[in-house]
Amino acid sequence: MTTATALAHPNIAFIKYWGNRDDALRIPQNGSISMNLAGLHTHTRVCFDPSYAVDSFTLNNLPQTGAGLERVSQFLDIVRTLAGKNWKAQVESANNFPTGAGIASSAAAFAALAVAASQAIGLDLDERRLSALARRGSGSASRSIPAGYVEWLPGNNDSDSYAVTLAPPAHWDLVDCIAVLKETHKLTGSSEGHLLAGSSPLQQARIGSCGERLQRCRRAIISRDFDALASVVELDSNLMHAVMMTSNPALFYWEPASIEIMKAVPEWRQSGLPACYTLDAGPNVHVLCPADHAAVVRSRLEIIPGVLQVLTATAGGGAHLTAED
Ligand code: DP6
Repeated sequence: MTTATALAHPNIAFIKYWGNRDDALRIPQNGSISMNLAGLHTHTRVCFDPSYAVDSFTLNNLPQTGAGLERVSQFLDIVRTLAGKNWKAQVESANNFPTGAGIASSAAAFAALAVAASQAIGLDLDERRLSALARRGSGSASRSIPAGYVEWLPGNNDSDSYAVTLAPPAHWDLVDCIAVLKETHKLTGSSEGHLLAGSSPLQQARIGSCGERLQRCRRAIISRDFDALASVVELDSNLMHAVMMTSNPALFYWEPASIEIMKAVPEWRQSGLPACYTLDAGPNVHVLCPADHAAVVRSRLEIIPGVLQVLTATAGGGAHLTAED
């Protein structure tokens, strides 16, 4: 029996991943940039044993079956092929954030699983290979492997599509204030959504103009220019949601309170409070701001009708092994 445990944070995308060139390998149509979310994490223990007949998977102590187990098992198949071993595994995973709070848990989940499973089976993978491996489980998980502010280089094949650190967490003290609007699971998951991106007449325009937004975002991070970051982050979120809303079938992730916040935040900015919004494939609104403005942003979000709770996260580190429990 060989075991390993690892921890990884979810991340919030500043420049979004939406649509693949290769769905099986999760080679994205465009590069993306994100910040890891400290304080929120997934902790995963993997145990391989030649005597196990099947893979098993528990999430927050609840045994998983069906699609959840299948996705983990398929990911373990990739790890087994790399290692040339056919051992089955026991996977135990726990999130410290509310399950179903609409926080993208697949990024943290597959980043932690990639680190724990590869170590437990005896592979010695560097950060680049871990990121490419995590990508096979969930595209955005590639970005939860390196620390801090991260860019996923889209690449052309399995080995050159991986993420790198643009700047370490301490480079910029941004805070993500997450306005949680719904605690139920989203209707259309990201994996299904990526398949629909190409059916929107706007996707080609989004992809064609993405290089310029990536450049603006990189520069804003490097020079800690919040206004420059705010304009490109809001534009990129709106573009992705325009693609979602014009795909076939159309995907509408926003709730009325999402729009309230999207209208309020630029007004706050104009009146001197540095803050900007971005939304992933769900109604929750991530409001980014410098740390010294987080308390004000949080209290303003908390009184908006429809906001159930506000979680806050600073820039987080990369995925890493942890000591055995
Ligand atoms: C809207 O990484 O969740 O959050 O590869 O199918 O697991 P899969 O998709 P996923 O897609 C993330 C989509 C997004 C934008 C982003 O995080 O870049």
